[in-house]
Amino acid sequence: MTSSPATAEVGVIGGTGFYSFIENPEEVEVETPYGAPSAPIAVGTVSGRRVAFLPRHGNHHDFPPHGIPFRANLWALRSLGVRQVIAPCAVGGLREEVAPGDVVVPDQLVDRTYRRVGSYVERGAVHLPFGDPYCAGVRRALVGADPVVKDGGTMVVIEGPRFSTRAESQHYAAQGWTLINMTALPEAALAREMGQCYASVALVTDMDAGAEEGSSVSQEEVFALFKSNLERLTGLLGTAIANLPDPDGCTCSTWTEGVELTYDIPGGD
Ligand code: ADE
Repeated sequence: MTSSPATAEVGVIGGTGFYSFIENPEEVEVETPYGAPSAPIAVGTVSGRRVAFLPRHGNHHDFPPHGIPFRANLWALRSLGVRQVIAPCAVGGLREEVAPGDVVVPDQLVDRTYRRVGSYVERGAVHLPFGDPYCAGVRRALVGADPVVKDGGTMVVIEGPRFSTRAESQHYAAQGWTLINMTALPEAALAREMGQCYASVALVTDMDAGAEEGSSVSQEEVFALFKSNLERLTGLLGTAIANLPDPDGCTCSTWTEGVELTYDIPGGD
């Protein structure tokens, strides 16, 4: 373990069942104005790029979705130099165009969380442009990494930690939303506030409660599906990381130009 300032260009925030895929990493403890991140950050090389890996729920699944230190996580990655973030996550499927085992790169988000601190802005008029919540360049690298990847879909983010009732699930599906998850927000918005390029890559682990009468989602089901797809997802990530575009000039960072930010971007441009 070290507290020396290791650096990385790319961050990966691993979700349920997705732990470090970096070989011989340097473990870095980072403190932030928002407390400690979910775990020490593993820094190493993947596909020739310096990559920082952070398990979203901690190394032993310590943090439930509503208890994740989201602000510390994005701040800590940025303080190591990370400007592009890939966020693997487990999701439920809401509609029949997706099935368990599918890998989807969503393009839209709906926020149904209600008790999380979702911003670094604590005063002043700083309003994040968020019409397209995901970075187009990082999305392209993920979609191009494997022909099986499904491109696009709206993900609704619920507060959790419980899964949805059948009525809730059917309601979400009726809106035309494709995927359901508990962690993509506020993570994606905080990354944009940090000026980072960010995209999710979602593994469908279950069909949410609404799909079938009598069905319900279980945690075991989610973990097992994730485990059986780990190798595939790791390979896909390696290819995507190799294909990430140059973040310079991307609107994910340029939106801060001329804006009087009322928070600190560590090592900020
Ligand atoms: N993560 C994985 N499956 C999920 C589901 N059905 N609902 C919310 N989050 C999930």
